Amino acid sequence: MSEKITISLIKADVGGWPGHSSVHPDLIEKAKECLEKAKNEGLLIDYHVTGVGDDLQLIMSHRRGVDSEEVHKLAWDTFVEATKIAKELGLYGAGQDLLKDAFSGNVRGMGPGIAEMEITPRKSEPIIAFMMDKTEPGAFNLPIYRMFADPFNTAGLVIDPNMHDGFIFEVWDIMEHKKVFMSTPEEMYDLLALIGAKSRYVIKRVYPKESNPKLKADEPVAVISTEKLFQIAGEYIGKDDPVALVRAQSGCPALGEVLEPFAFPHLVSGWMRGSHNGPIMPVGIKQAHCTRFDGPPRVAALGFQLANGKLVGPVDLFDDPAFDETRKTAQIIADYMRRHGPFEPHRLPLEDMEYTTLPKVLKKLQDRFESL
Ligand code: 13P
Ligand code: 13P
Ligand code: MG
Ligand code: MG
Repeated sequence: MSEKITISLIKADVGGWPGHSSVHPDLIEKAKECLEKAKNEGLLIDYHVTGVGDDLQLIMSHRRGVDSEEVHKLAWDTFVEATKIAKELGLYGAGQDLLKDAFSGNVRGMGPGIAEMEITPRKSEPIIAFMMDKTEPGAFNLPIYRMFADPFNTAGLVIDPNMHDGFIFEVWDIMEHKKVFMSTPEEMYDLLALIGAKSRYVIKRVYPKESNPKLKADEPVAVISTEKLFQIAGEYIGKDDPVALVRAQSGCPALGEVLEPFAFPHLVSGWMRGSHNGPIMPVGIKQAHCTRFDGPPRVAALGFQLANGKLVGPVDLFDDPAFDETRKTAQIIADYMRRHGPFEPHRLPLEDMEYTTLPKVLKKLQDRFESL
């Protein structure tokens, strides 16, 4: 078996408690039971289960590589089992993100969100799992860009010779289903021209350069889930709340450089009915319940050290007074945005509303329009 270790973060909303606010503890218990069994059977090396907002999160380490049918099936079956409990408890939107009836080899395209990386672990391998609720994959564009390409965020880009040459970004056009690799710092401005349009161009992975002596150039240092639920379901059924895995230290940004972008609660889309812009608020797991106007959108971060494939942790990284001011700012921004009510730019622009329930409302009016 390979020395390489795969970290798979697979998540789904299989029922909210109450509404779309949080995950019921019984779902977490059921998921732990399923993953413990897989660990005892040797499929997983280690795992951690948690909930962020209404999304059930499975963080797993194993040696089966990315897109492993067995690991994906385990995740799918775990979500199916948790859905049974969600139905018993009458949870809201039970099975919401399980969009297909039967598993067919891979959970991609079936509703759950997936961030996976296969890596050759360094002597010490810090890994951070980021989990967002009430937003979309493009919400990671700004913080991931800042971690790996912005010297005002990441001092190491200037100071550390290992990463001084920069990183390579794999960007997906999720409308046209195409991808492009862009090298920073040389192509910073071109990269920003794309990823500033965060509802269409999303950062999928970041790679180190060949010149980075601490890392292998073909193994990612960051990976983000990019599943778009409406593209699978054909209509709005819930938001594609994204997750990401990021490696830190020795050749990568330091842990604090990885967390630093989240000290700015930037505006993301996906709040209330997937239809509003709002600030993303970094929170500890115990505060990761989306309440006010089903939000505001939240991000949690769990830190692990990988040791022989074991996930040593987690440390709840935003459960820290150092992020209190950010949370306060987020709430001030939330107040400001809320006062716009149904007006843009709090509500998303029309093209982004196409997959919500708004077109059904507008349809009713179509015959009443007269020519000018
Ligand atoms: P240590 O010297 O504690 O490893 O810290 C390195 C560092 O630069 C953290 O930002
Ligand atoms: P989720 O996608 O997290 O289920 O949220 C749905 C929603 O629109 C809540 O307002
Ligand atoms: Mg939900
Ligand atoms: Mg959710």
